[in-house]
Amino acid sequence: MTTNALISPQAGVARTLVWTDAFLLGYGPLDDTHREFVEVVSALMQATDDELDGALARLECHLRDHFGTEDRWMEETDFPARQCHMDEHGAVLATLEQVKALCANGDVAIVRRFGDELIQWFPGHADYLDAALSHWMSKTRLGGKPVVLRRNLSFDETVIPVKK
Ligand SMILES: [Fe+2]
Ligand SMILES: [Fe+2]
Repeated sequence: MTTNALISPQAGVARTLVWTDAFLLGYGPLDDTHREFVEVVSALMQATDDELDGALARLECHLRDHFGTEDRWMEETDFPARQCHMDEHGAVLATLEQVKALCANGDVAIVRRFGDELIQWFPGHADYLDAALSHWMSKTRLGGKPVVLRRNLSFDETVIPVKK
């Protein structure tokens, strides 16, 4: 992934992300972090122009903590093939730095495009890379594969239009 991979050339219709149990992976601390991810991205997508700086700062704080924690878990437990997972986190953070610079120059649209790209990026990343980490952490820390109890299996309701 290049550092620009999260900024697509066309901005879509404004939309936001909502939590459903379809996102549950089974390792509690990881699921808690992902609930917070959905919350901060949703807040960013619903922020007014005046609120956008604060929402972006909160998103940055979340992403650094979220990715830093996952990277630390992988390092501490010697998770195999961790480099591609860590590289993907790094690519998102590199894009975030570009977005912050553009936002500081008055480009608020780029912040919403970044949020929109995160909405598209997250399910694939969670389903593929984070799910493997969740299984690994459950086995390493809890001694077994996670049992996931989902109340709603559908991803269909995770992305909804922003209400203005
Ligand atoms: Fe994650
Ligand atoms: Fe991850």
